[in-house]
Amino acid sequence: MSVPAELKFSDATMREYQELLTHYPTRRAALLPTLWLAQRDFGWVGEDIQRYVSELMEVPLSHVRAVVTFYPMFHQERVGKFLIDVCTNLSCRLRGADRIVDCIRIRLGIEVGQTTPDGKFTLGSAECLASCGTAPMLQLNQDRYYENLTEESILALLDELAGRGD
Ligand code: FES
Repeated sequence: MSVPAELKFSDATMREYQELLTHYPTRRAALLPTLWLAQRDFGWVGEDIQRYVSELMEVPLSHVRAVVTFYPMFHQERVGKFLIDVCTNLSCRLRGADRIVDCIRIRLGIEVGQTTPDGKFTLGSAECLASCGTAPMLQLNQDRYYENLTEESILALLDELAGRGD
């Protein structure tokens, strides 16, 4: 099975990739950050994208697949534009994480693990994100924390995100 011709890094990402390679002794060693670039550009790292990375880096597809399936931060399914991972570990749960999850479920009409039909939001959950002192909290798109959440603040956040253009 070949990689669809239209599936490739943008010129800007290809430049980032080439620069990235200069920091590693081998291509294979640069696999994790390259997959991260791929996920940033494509939004996920499904089968075709894994194959593209494998061919680009000249790394066996089996190795790419092993890495993608090992690390939960890599999405093998499409996720929404806004991925909301609510921490549901002990401290957050004691301080109301379940109520936060319920607010999101009800407002968006989806369950944990689902994406809204418009592809805008995915609701996920996370284990402790090391921000217990500001529980309950969530991580947005794997790189931004929202802390000391209340029912009011989470609804305000959802409204703000819903209002952001594409
Ligand atoms: S339990 Fe939620 S950040 Fe630690």
